[in-house]
Amino acid sequence: MEDKRTKFLQTFQFLQQNFNQFLISEIFPLIELNSHPTLAKAMIYSLKAGGKRIRPILTISSYHSGKPFNIDSINKSILLLACATEMIHTYSLIHDDLPSMDDDDLRRGIPTLHKQFSESTAILAGDALNSFGFYLCSLVESDSNDRNLISDLIKILHKGAGMSGMVSGQMEDLEMEGNDVFLRNQSLTTKEEILFRIHKRKTGELILASLLLGNRLRADHFNRLEEIETYGKKIGLLFQLTDDILDTEGSSQELGKTPGKDLESGKLTYISLYGLDESKKKRDLLIEELVQIGQKLESEEEFFFKNLPVYIGSRKN
Ligand code: IPE
Ligand code: IPE
Ligand code: MG
Ligand code: MG
Ligand code: MG
Repeated sequence: MEDKRTKFLQTFQFLQQNFNQFLISEIFPLIELNSHPTLAKAMIYSLKAGGKRIRPILTISSYHSGKPFNIDSINKSILLLACATEMIHTYSLIHDDLPSMDDDDLRRGIPTLHKQFSESTAILAGDALNSFGFYLCSLVESDSNDRNLISDLIKILHKGAGMSGMVSGQMEDLEMEGNDVFLRNQSLTTKEEILFRIHKRKTGELILASLLLGNRLRADHFNRLEEIETYGKKIGLLFQLTDDILDTEGSSQELGKTPGKDLESGKLTYISLYGLDESKKKRDLLIEELVQIGQKLESEEEFFFKNLPVYIGSRKN
């Protein structure tokens, strides 16, 4: 068990390093070559700030699951898709931090983009990263027998990132912010429905899309769809539930962002609905459930999807 946990962490770091290397050597030059110099600087400022790279790692792992891999076997197409998810995610963070949204000053341990540059530059850098994510999908190499590949990839990313996914989640998150009068008059069931819908859309859908994109590159993609959907939906919920807990008990040093913002701005979160202790119980149950589902996604010897829930649920940033 401990051995598999160590292997998981080593693999995670290996994927982070390789992803970051690809970003620096292949993606930053593309950004610099094609963008207004200030726009390029702004985009790279946020991308380079780091981040856990969970979405790209999910894309790569979902593609490689069940197959042995090393540095040479991570092909360019899967890295392009992994970058696509990180472009969308980074854009979502830049816009999420804007004064008209969550109004945050710190992200990934450094000043938010609108603080460092300007609000208009942050809006435009987000716009550019958003469309760039879709462009990267179009660069994936498809073989002639799989003529729907690129259009399927674009549809998956759009479902997760666009109006039916992340953007609607952000809309409802803001709509509920400070909406005490409305929420006070709702039953617990209705409040739970709203909370789950917000978390599913604002965070869960892009996480699910990251897994589905990697899976779609596999020849056997159809066989694995159901299990990936089940796992992806729950891991997305766990991710945002943990984010809510960290906002309550994390430190800005560890988080790289300012804690306590959810309470201050009156967000509807797991903590505001259930309190900290109950939220942690829900987190632990979800981890257990996900470990079970992970066992269906990979063989006995594999360790990635079975260890990921513990990593996500016990992270400190
Ligand atoms: C933060 O995402 C925003 C949410 C969706 C909760 P991450 O915690 O993955 O942020 P980075 O990429 O590691 O900075
Ligand atoms: C972020 O949710 C969701 C997206 C960025 C789409 P939060 O607003 O809770 O994320 P943090 O806490 O600012 O990272
Ligand atoms: Mg937000
Ligand atoms: Mg926020
Ligand atoms: Mg948060």
